[in-house]
Amino acid sequence: MVEMLLYLLSVLTIAIVLYSFFVALFFREEIQAAMTKDPAGRSYVEVLTLYPGLHSIVMHRLAHALRALPIPFLPRFLSQMMRFFTGIEIHPGAKIGRGLFIDHGMGVVIGETAVVGDNVLLYQGVTLGGTGKEKGKRHPTIGNNVVIGAGAQVLGNIVIGDNSYIGANAVVVKPIPPHSTVVGVPGRITQQDGRKIDFDLDHVHIVDPIMQTIEALEKRIEALEKIIKKPEKSAKGEGRMTRDE
Ligand SMILES: CC(C)(COP(=O)(O)OP(=O)(O)OC[C@H]1O[C@@H](n2cnc3c(N)ncnc32)[C@H](O)[C@@H]1OP(=O)(O)O)[C@@H](O)C(=O)NCCC(=O)NCCS
Repeated sequence: MVEMLLYLLSVLTIAIVLYSFFVALFFREEIQAAMTKDPAGRSYVEVLTLYPGLHSIVMHRLAHALRALPIPFLPRFLSQMMRFFTGIEIHPGAKIGRGLFIDHGMGVVIGETAVVGDNVLLYQGVTLGGTGKEKGKRHPTIGNNVVIGAGAQVLGNIVIGDNSYIGANAVVVKPIPPHSTVVGVPGRITQQDGRKIDFDLDHVHIVDPIMQTIEALEKRIEALEKIIKKPEKSAKGEGRMTRDE
């Protein structure tokens, strides 16, 4: 009995050591991301062994590859196993870029058609989900270098621009331009391209000045066309008058 236990223990130890070598070799960017983005991340070994976000990404890569083959059941099974162990549910269909760091992890959900860019940071409780009304591509596309705060919900087939910050507990249902900071429910842009933005204005629907000019020109052309057509009509009208007479 003791021999059996020792045997199992040594097999487990070898498996863990091999897995750690594999992760250290092929997931250097993710480990580096954890070390730079988490002030509490002290050493390579600590990140390699104690960070649930890292392991959920490792298993996601495997599940994603199996799904592409396609192998039924196993990808979802792996995804659900990782959810059980880490509290992070990444659907095997989600496309995840390089250097993703999921800090703390618990409660993170990444939907089937979500796309996550490079160098993204997600905190616990983040949902990249659907609104429940859409079909097909129904989850968000997150740009590069985006930070999504704890508990934030990003819903629907929307794009979050590169280098944006989504504040903790924000609910974002509209596209966000690059270099923006968004807070609140519903998410409102408070900063864009380094400039503070007035809270009271609806900056989620930012007005494009070029579009405004084009629209103004269109209105002027319409007005001018009406003026030009008027004499034609009145000329025709005069002709009819003559026939009636
Ligand atoms: C949004 C965030 C990125 C800060 O961005 P910032 O540009 O530095 O914003 P500021 O701190 O200057 O705040 C700007 C305004 O937004 C408000 N604000 C900031 N974060 C907010 C949030 N999550 N929800 C609602 N309002 C928020 C501030 O009170 C401030 O309001 P005011 O102008 O009326 O005073 C940050 O507050 C945040 O939420 N980070 C997520 C971090 C996280 O999840 N950590 C978990 C660690 S475990």
